[in-house]
Amino acid sequence: MLVSKLPDKGTTIFTVMSKMAADYGAINLSQGFPDFQAPEALLERVAFYTAAGYNQYAPMSGVPALKQQIAMKVADLYGRNVNPDTEITVTPGATEALFCAVCATIHPGDEAIIFDPAYDTYEPAVTLNGGITHHIPMGYPDFQIDWQAVRCKINDRTRLIIINSPHNPTGSIWNEADVLALQEIVEGSRISVVSDEVYEHIIFDGQTHQSLHRYAELAKRSFIVSSFGKTYHTTGWRLGYCIAPQEYMLEFQRIHQFVNFSTNTPMQHAVADFLEHCPEFHKELSGFYEQKRNLFCRLIKKSGFRLLPAAGTYFQLLDYSEISKAADTELANRLTMEHKIASIPVSVFYKDPPGQKILRFCFAKSDATLEEAADILNKL
Ligand SMILES: Cc1ncc(COP(=O)(O)O)c(C=O)c1O
Repeated sequence: MLVSKLPDKGTTIFTVMSKMAADYGAINLSQGFPDFQAPEALLERVAFYTAAGYNQYAPMSGVPALKQQIAMKVADLYGRNVNPDTEITVTPGATEALFCAVCATIHPGDEAIIFDPAYDTYEPAVTLNGGITHHIPMGYPDFQIDWQAVRCKINDRTRLIIINSPHNPTGSIWNEADVLALQEIVEGSRISVVSDEVYEHIIFDGQTHQSLHRYAELAKRSFIVSSFGKTYHTTGWRLGYCIAPQEYMLEFQRIHQFVNFSTNTPMQHAVADFLEHCPEFHKELSGFYEQKRNLFCRLIKKSGFRLLPAAGTYFQLLDYSEISKAADTELANRLTMEHKIASIPVSVFYKDPPGQKILRFCFAKSDATLEEAADILNKL
């Protein structure tokens, strides 16, 4: 008989809702993945490298050409120089990077702070390492961080703060004042930061992504995580990376080598080539998704849903309090089974759900899919 280390955790909501969408033939705007193809030139490079025999283990920390391209991208976008040999690890998705970063920082009894609604991988990683997670709810409806609440939660056992901007599930983003508040709080402490920046290239209305790469003082104590899955419409390839100072990265790799050893070889070579030859692709991603957001919002403007601000990511929150009094989990199930449209109930990302009536819809879909989805939502 096994005794679970995560007795309170069931199957993730993304798996549950995607399965329900498939079972009931519903349009799946629940789990965050695009329903369109990766760039042709990238697919061609994958075909090239698999056919050319690049099919064995990659180096543990990643293919050198890809790490070089990542370092150049970070220098170009954020003005930070990172050493590709000692400060970058390529991982099977951002998920493994987040897990290894938490493993590297949390010992039994250590405390971590996360902000609710929180992406669902953070807390289990802390728990599996014997840590204690403090959840600080973000404000409603702007989903900003209450920095005074953070100061109150810090004590001499606090070792980690996990942040995420642009933010899943809310689409909110950090501004400079947030970063400076964090910097002031951790200064002189033993607190490390994990910065989940997988949506770094999806930010709207001319706003700037406040990457921790831009802030040298914070970068010195941070694991900064990103994902090629979000950027190249390839979530199934499982390709992400982590950047951290050498001392942090050594501990990260000590763990990574025993979790996954290394990451998919041909895809790493392909992405390295693509970054070299199509460096403009990620720069155009915000505009591409801003159009999708605007289309989706326009299509459902006259529905009974209230649109919440969406400053980044490919998610739109909809407040349904004018349509139903049901709990969000119940409504999400009903919409999937009876109305054939799947979404994600936001309450599952809270330790203590505040009872808001909000569902998350993914708009990383073809225009035709979004129109079909809007037809359903407009009739509710
Ligand atoms: C906030 C956030 N972090 C991390 C991930 C995981 O990224 P990956 O698919 O590269 O593992 C996701 C994926 O949805 C996400 O939304």
